[in-house]
Amino acid sequence: MKKVVMGANVFRKDFPFFARKLVYLDTAATSQKPRVVLDAMRKFYEISNANVHRGVYGLADEATQLYEGARKTIARFINASPQEIVFVRNATEGINLVAQAWGRANIKKGETILITQMEHHSNIVPWQLLVKEKGANLLVATITKAGELDVLAFEKLLEKKPKLVAFTHVSNVLGTVNPVKELTALAHKAGAKVLVDACQSIAHMHVDVRNLNCDFLVFSGHKLYGPFVGVLYGKKKLLEEMPPFLCGGDMIKEVSFEKSSWNELPWKFEAGTPDVAGAVGLAAAVFYLEGIGLANVERQEVELVEYAFKKLQKIKAVQIYGPKTRAGVISFNLGDMHAHDVSTVLDEQGVCVRSGHHCAQPLMGVLGIPACARISIGVYTTKEDIDKFLAALQKAKKVFRL
Ligand SMILES: Cc1ncc(COP(=O)(O)O)c(C=O)c1O
Repeated sequence: MKKVVMGANVFRKDFPFFARKLVYLDTAATSQKPRVVLDAMRKFYEISNANVHRGVYGLADEATQLYEGARKTIARFINASPQEIVFVRNATEGINLVAQAWGRANIKKGETILITQMEHHSNIVPWQLLVKEKGANLLVATITKAGELDVLAFEKLLEKKPKLVAFTHVSNVLGTVNPVKELTALAHKAGAKVLVDACQSIAHMHVDVRNLNCDFLVFSGHKLYGPFVGVLYGKKKLLEEMPPFLCGGDMIKEVSFEKSSWNELPWKFEAGTPDVAGAVGLAAAVFYLEGIGLANVERQEVELVEYAFKKLQKIKAVQIYGPKTRAGVISFNLGDMHAHDVSTVLDEQGVCVRSGHHCAQPLMGVLGIPACARISIGVYTTKEDIDKFLAALQKAKKVFRL
């Protein structure tokens, strides 16, 4: 394990991206990639490239071993079994897979699905389409003024006996960390299955699916210092019972012109040639993060977010959204300036921050704002990054005469 020296970021040099002199504060949208991830993918394409699960020659077997080895690494990382790990394009595809395969088979007319007000569009729209098709209902648990899930309201809605509860582990806008284990236990007690969106937690804290006891969990590799692949975890029994989502090569056992039968788990859900290099790169990202240690990552990030939060709070005209205790994102507005304008002035000073509705338009409605700006951090973020951002924000304040 690498030694973590607080305040002096020892990980930044692992990321070739920072040859660019940018202050990158948009890790929640996508993370930069360490050299080990880029090297693993390059090495795959340079010397091990072949399709997987098809050829019987040595090279094809080598590619298959690398791909399946990556699956084992991801499984170990979240304490699942490899059969329960399905490679998808991204978290969005993972949720759509559950909505289409599990949802269409299990949700009936008049039944309900429960989500929360702090969901990303990816965890809203697939359920909207499903309930529309089935004549079912979508319920939404409210958040408190402080930006936390209103657990009492959540429990009240559980009395309606939803078939599925789908919620985010960490809000990509508010930074709120939801008590996944407790919410899952409550949902199970009410007879619901649980899907957890771990997009904003997976790279920032230890996620253990057995401990959380959720039924499904999704995340995107590109937010975990890896490439653009995604992961769906599902409990084996549920995945076994589900019909396939996408169909074609590799997901079948036998095909005739009359009928087809399905492959074993997890390949039943992986139609067509997968992103093999992506899986290999993601496994390298997991090894990298494990090398640092998730507890160290969390400690360093909490310290940095606290630092940024305190400083931001002191700037008059800054409005922060969400609770004080939070994971690695801080969303804010500056006076009544549009977040895009704030982001543009910051960009002119080499500071990259996200602005807009953050794919959470319903949450913007709840907060009563059209948009906000957001900083988000990763293992490579330094105190100097935060200071440069704060200085740039002061300049923006002057530009806007606030
Ligand atoms: C909480 C949350 N869920 C889902 C997503 C969707 O991720 P992707 O676009 O990689 O599918 C994001 C991306 O920002 C997110 O922050």
